[in-house]
Order: sequence, then structure tokens, then C-alpha cells
Amino acid sequence: MAKPKQHDSDFLLRKADDADIPTLVEFLSKLALHVAGAQTQRLKTKERQRLVEALASALADTDKLIIVAEVPDYGLVGMGDVAVWRNEGIWEQASAEVDKSGFIDDVWVEPEFRKRGIFTAMLWELVAFAEHHGAQELVLEYSLANKEAKATWNTLGFKPTGVRAVAFTGNVKKILTDRSS
Ligand SMILES: CC(C)(COP(=O)(O)OP(=O)(O)OC[C@H]1O[C@@H](n2cnc3c(N)ncnc32)[C@H](O)[C@@H]1OP(=O)(O)O)[C@@H](O)C(=O)NCCC(=O)NCCS
Repeated sequence: MAKPKQHDSDFLLRKADDADIPTLVEFLSKLALHVAGAQTQRLKTKERQRLVEALASALADTDKLIIVAEVPDYGLVGMGDVAVWRNEGIWEQASAEVDKSGFIDDVWVEPEFRKRGIFTAMLWELVAFAEHHGAQELVLEYSLANKEAKATWNTLGFKPTGVRAVAFTGNVKKILTDRSS
């Protein structure tokens, strides 16, 4: 992206840079709490360091884009990222052409700035980046319990294609035992 875009409202979009990393870590921490439905907690120092390193590495990766939304004189209010992955293919019969997918992740808009179109604006940039890198499809994951994510992704054209199922080990063992008796 050549320069930040000014939107109708009061925020700008730009590519994240190293100076944003501390705020991005805070956003990722809030996102993890949100997804887990947990109360405010502090990140372990080791995990904070891991995130700092992962973000620094993502910022230097030309197949990844971290976009941020910023309100002038206030600071960052949102982030989202996309990573372009190559699917080499496993079948002999498949064409030599490499498929590419854009994996969208780490989407966060500060609660008081939601429902103003900030994420929609960020998604424009993620889509443009994916398209520019030859990704024909966009993929992401969200928890079914995350109602606003579900509503947002559904509105923006994403349809679930799989289910991640969990069970207590003990329950599965009991079912197996019952079924074998
Ligand atoms: C999901 C999230 C990023 C949306 O950000 P946002 O800036 O509020 O999104 P937008 O304002 O661009 O909304 C886009 C569309 O999604 C829908 N939408 C957004 N939030 C919604 C909600 N809480 N309920 C229902 N629909 C919603 C709306 O239809 C909206 O379209 P509209 O403006 O035409 O009505 C934001 O709610 C958030 O940060 N949530 C917590 C983190 C999270 O769940 N991240 C995704 C993890 S996969």
C-alpha cells in the first residue's frame, strides 16, 4: 500500500510497523480472552515475547500483511492480518500451477469502535493483498461461540466448511466402553 487511506469516518488504515508491536500484542491478548470467554488476565512474559517475535517476523514477511486502523490523536483501534499460503498439491494428476490461499487471522476492533465499518475497511486491504499475491480463496477460523465473528463473517461472504469437535477424554472412553459391552 502506498499511503494510508482516509475514510468517511475518523480512522486511517495503514500497514503495521515495528512501533505498533506492543499495541498489537495487547490486541492479540484481548482477542485470546474474547475467544476463550475469559476475564482479564496478564500474559506470561514468555508468551508476550513469543508474540513480539511472531509479529516482528510477520512484518518482515512479504507473504503477510498486518493492517491496522488508527484514529488520529487517539491511537490504534483495530488490526487484521492475512498470510498467503501455497498449496503445492499432492496428486500426480493435479496441474503444476500452485494454488494459493489467503489465511485471515488476528482480527480485532476495539469494542467502542465496532460497528462503524472499521473491519470492513480493513478487509478491503486484506482482500487486495491476497488478490495481488494470487490467492483465489480466503480462509479463516472462528469459534461458533463467537457470535459477532460469526455474524461478521457471514455478512462478508464466508461460509463454514468444516467443524472442529471436542470431547472430554473420559466421555469418549465411556462411550467406547459402553459400545463394546
Ligand atoms: C468481528 C469484528 C472484528 C467486527 O469488526 P467491526 O469493525 O465492528 O465490523 P464492521 O463494522 O465492519 O461490520 C461488518 C459487518 O458485520 C456485521 N456485524 C459486525 N458486528 C456484528 C455484531 N456484533 N452482530 C451482528 N452483525 C455484526 C454487520 O452486518 C456489519 O455490516 P453492516 O455494517 O452492513 O451492518 C469485531 O466485532 C471484533 O473485534 N470482535 C471481537 C474479536 C473477534 O471476534 N474477532 C474475530 C475472530 S475470528
